[in-house]
Amino acid sequence: MSSNLRIACVMVGLPARGKTYIAQKVCRYLTWLGINTKVFNVGNYRRKLAGAHVPHTFFDPANPEGEKSRKEAAAEALADMMRWFEEDEGIVAIYDATNSTKTRRAWLQESLNKKDIQVLFIESICQDEEVILNNIRDVKLSSPDYVDIDPDQAAEDFRARIDHYQEQYETITEEGLTYIKLINVGSQVIINLIKGYLESRIVYYLMNLHIAPRKIYMSRHGESVFNVEGKIGGDSPLSPRGEMYASRLPDLIRQNLGDQNLTIWTSTMKRTIQTASLLPHPTKKQWKALEELDAGVCDGMTYEEIAEKYPEDYANRDEDKFNYRYRGGESYRDVVLRLEPVIMELERHQNILIIGHQAILRCIYAYFMNYSHEDLPYIKIPLHTVIELTPKAYGCDEKRFKVDIEAVDTHRPKPTRAASIRRKASTNLASKAPGSLTLPNPAGASGEIVYDPMSPILPLTSPKLTSRPS
Ligand code: ATP
Ligand code: F6P
Repeated sequence: MSSNLRIACVMVGLPARGKTYIAQKVCRYLTWLGINTKVFNVGNYRRKLAGAHVPHTFFDPANPEGEKSRKEAAAEALADMMRWFEEDEGIVAIYDATNSTKTRRAWLQESLNKKDIQVLFIESICQDEEVILNNIRDVKLSSPDYVDIDPDQAAEDFRARIDHYQEQYETITEEGLTYIKLINVGSQVIINLIKGYLESRIVYYLMNLHIAPRKIYMSRHGESVFNVEGKIGGDSPLSPRGEMYASRLPDLIRQNLGDQNLTIWTSTMKRTIQTASLLPHPTKKQWKALEELDAGVCDGMTYEEIAEKYPEDYANRDEDKFNYRYRGGESYRDVVLRLEPVIMELERHQNILIIGHQAILRCIYAYFMNYSHEDLPYIKIPLHTVIELTPKAYGCDEKRFKVDIEAVDTHRPKPTRAASIRRKASTNLASKAPGSLTLPNPAGASGEIVYDPMSPILPLTSPKLTSRPS
């Protein structure tokens, strides 16, 4: 696969079939993995061209003005998408519209192929009336199309809009197209001509999505002996206050989350296993992938010791914490990639409580809450706190339950730009000073990305967050 691989995921389906939901999720997942991804929502272009408040008759195939306007919106979105591929080194674009006729799909396929962009059609089919009604209630009535409109009237108008689309809708049957069809929220999946690693990843991700209501819980282990000593890494046991947290956790869970059947995931390290040990839930699973970020040669040191012994590394980490890889250890970018199977499992399952570590929970939290790679390593995940995440149509709600047991604060804030420039200048001087020891610079020890963990398959790009759908 060449490094200029580009894929356009083209959504297909009637209104209220979860296309925008799927588009947003795929975008969040790929962005989290470091793949430059952006959604192009044709509805936004249509609102800009024709205004937000158009009646259902606008979507009637027999209405030539509406038809013209919708075509224009589709063409503008496509032109922007092409430009984005060229100018912003885009890798995956998601073209979010109904694209429900063969003619429309042939136009997209041809235009994109001319630019050497692979096309993956993602069709969502849903015949479950209850799901459709829920979708209309959940997201359509609050869409910008229906601001200040009576909900019953809005629902009726939306149903009429669906009927107009239904008149011309042609499910994908074109033999040469690459596609995945998700039928009734993934209860049946049909795939055709999927090729290459990235397309397969997207397809596998889509196969794991469900929309059953669920919550994800996470807590760091109780305060550890190393936390108290200000040391990073290691495999130390809990401190006396950490042990108290472990003994209070079952009550906290019962009082706030009820008697639900939680599955507990821990790492294989003492401090998470100890924290989970008194939980009455029968299913506990230890994941090697959940182990704390490996600090390599700095394992067991305090931040002050690292600053003294490895000043260049220390400054490099502050400069680009997400990409900085400890000598002989890992970067946050490495951790994100090792957590990918964990995310996949989290998507498949319901009601999981993860007892984890600071860096690990930052990565998982960032996936659900859509944090950029730049901000991810500074997310506050305090000790002795349970976080509850509730995925919603286009985002996630959050609650935090804090246990009243003191613990050290292990969060190091992001250095201000001025401080980091000062520090960089002084470390540069130090390494040039006569007689000073110039540290070897092993592969991966600096802030640069020196390898592509998905190599030779994917070029890594700087992370970009796309805006939420309107
Ligand atoms: P429109 O064409 O009007 O933009 P849409 O197809 O983009 O509609 P969404 O706005 O994405 O529809 O609808 C969101 C709702 O779809 C969410 O409530 C979500 O739970 C639900 N949903 C997600 N996936 C699916 C699916 N595969 N089938 C049906 N509904 C789904
Ligand atoms: O200090 C606790 C800890 O879990 C360490 O073991 C780990 O190295 C560190 O947090 C990760 O946080 P940061 O990336 O902010 O150094």
